[in-house]
Parts: sequence; structure tokens; C-alpha cells
Amino acid sequence: MDKMSCYPLRMRGFFTPFARALAVLSVIVALPATAQEDQAGWSIAIHGGAGTIAREDMTEEQDAAYRAALQNALDAGAKVLREGGSAMDAIQAAIEPMEDDPLFNAGRGAVLTWDGEIELDASIMDGRTRDAGAVAGVTGIRHPIALARKVMSDSPHVMLSGKGAEAFATEHDAELMPPEWFETERRRESLERMKAEQLSAIDVDVKFGTVGAVALDSQGNLAAGTSTGGMTGKRWGRIGDAPIIGAGTYADNRSCAVSATGWGEYFIRVGVAKTICERLLVARSFETANNGMPATGSGFAQILSDSVMEDVRVLGGDGGVILVTPSGEALYSFNTSGMYRGRATSQGVNEVAIYSDE
Ligand code: GLY
Repeated sequence: MDKMSCYPLRMRGFFTPFARALAVLSVIVALPATAQEDQAGWSIAIHGGAGTIAREDMTEEQDAAYRAALQNALDAGAKVLREGGSAMDAIQAAIEPMEDDPLFNAGRGAVLTWDGEIELDASIMDGRTRDAGAVAGVTGIRHPIALARKVMSDSPHVMLSGKGAEAFATEHDAELMPPEWFETERRRESLERMKAEQLSAIDVDVKFGTVGAVALDSQGNLAAGTSTGGMTGKRWGRIGDAPIIGAGTYADNRSCAVSATGWGEYFIRVGVAKTICERLLVARSFETANNGMPATGSGFAQILSDSVMEDVRVLGGDGGVILVTPSGEALYSFNTSGMYRGRATSQGVNEVAIYSDE
């Protein structure tokens, strides 16, 4: 008689599937957190710009509107990941609502150029393959992040710009919108004030409303994306860091996924996104070489990101980054008084924040 035969039939029927489920569950619960993350964890972080953002300058309504918009974008990305979708789909799902929301400097409501136009930049990177796509200085594209992804998937190139990118958009059925859909009174006033008072872009826009997202999916793949209108009054075809792979955006499954917001010229000079990922990769290779002796424990990615942002500050630049690691850490690092941001993970984290003391 086998062991199971000594149980009454009803008990056997109950015991078999229940015991199996319990056994599986107890193994999962017994695993350390990082192992659980490695198996099925997901993680996402978003930003909607960094800069001089002070509580006393915000009305309660403005504060609530930003938090609601961030939560909406975060929820859209988290839903994709929770349902087993890819990191690439999640970041696109998170960025598109922010591109449609005039609160942010991306897509609709983006800042105006010196000539009163709206020129949009975006990039996306798949950490699994290190494929990437970007568009720079495009007009009339509702979702530049979707167009950047099409450049990645449907062209042999990484970056397209201006009229050529717009022709590619038309050929690939990208969603187009008329100029009046993008332009807002608030951005028109900023440009006029800049010209009248001979101010710099930093004086009129005390914050950078670039948007971005980074994610780890439950298959262990990372992705990053960034989208922006750039800086008020930009001219001569100025392009910032957002569409530059390695500056505003980078993703590599072996190290991290990063999206940046801030004064683009400094982020290009430091190569912020790639520098953070590269330093993590080097540290991890030391671990491997030292038979797993930990060099990159909890908190390491934060220290490393802070050091790169300090480098930006020392040069005179400001802004911030969001970052996700292969083990599911979702981090922010910024050298400004605030950054519109949020993060969610399969471990139950779900938060949005604005000021540096949150
Ligand atoms: N970080 C956006 C820009 O400088 O254009």
C-alpha cells in the first residue's frame, strides 16, 4: 500500500492538489526577495521632469493635478507588467499619457522654439538586445516615443531627424496632429516673456518637464524611454540629451535602465545614462571575477547614480535620472529641489512624489 492509499478518498482528492499548491507556495515564500524578483518580479519608474519645484510655489490644485497625472502614467505602465507584458510595452504605455498631457514638456503642451514652433525629441532602448530608436526635431507627431520605437523596429537606423523623420512617420502610419493640438497658452507666454525680458530658458522654465520611464519585466528584460520638447526658445536645430542614446536614455539587461531629465547639454557631456549603466556593469564584472564577493549590494546603484548626478552639478548642470536594475530596484537621483516622479514594483511599492524631501 502506498502512503496516499491510507487516506480516505475525499481526503486524498483534497490533499493532492492542495498539498502540491502548498509545497510550491512554501518554496516561493522561502526564497530570498532577490530570487523572487529574478523569477517573476517587475518594476517600473517614471519621471515628468526635474527642476526648481517648491511646495510654496504650487497651489493645492496644481500639486494634485501633477500627482494624478503621474499616477495615471505609472498605473498604465504597471498594468502592462502585472499582466506579464514586456518592459518595452510598459514604458511606451507609461510615456504616451504624459505626451498627451499639457502639464508636461513632451508632445502636447511642449515648449516653443524661438520661432514659435514645437520640435519634439524622443528615444527608446531595449535592454535585452540593446536595439534603440530615436527621433529629433520632429513636428506634428502625437507620440514621439512610438515613432522612436518604429525607427528601432522598422528601419536600419537608430536616429532620424526633422523632415526625414516626418516622412518616415507618414510612411509608417504614425499618428499625426495639427499644430494647434500641441500648442498651449502657457508655453506661448513663456516664450514671449523670454524674448521681452531677454531671459534664458532656465529663467522662464524653472523646471524641465521632459518625461521618461524605465522598467524591468517579469522575463528579466529592461527598457528605457524618454520624450521631450527640449528647452523654451531653442534655435538653430538645437537637440538635447533626450534622443541621444547614452545621454538621456540607456538600457542594458546586464546593468540597468536609465532615463534622464534636465539641462540636456550637461547630460550629453557627461553621457549620463550610459555612464551609470557602464559603472554598474564594471562593478558586477568585479563580483563575477571575485567569485560573487558582493561589490554591488543594496544601495550601490543609488550611490553610483548620485555620483554621476554630482558630476553633472559640478559642471553647472541640473536635473535627475530614474533607474531600474536587473534585481528590481527602482531609484531616483536628482540634484534639483524637486522631480515629478513615481515608481511601482511587484513587491507592492506604488508611489508618486514631487519634492526632494518626500
Ligand atoms: N533634457 C531635455 C533637453 O535638454 O532637451
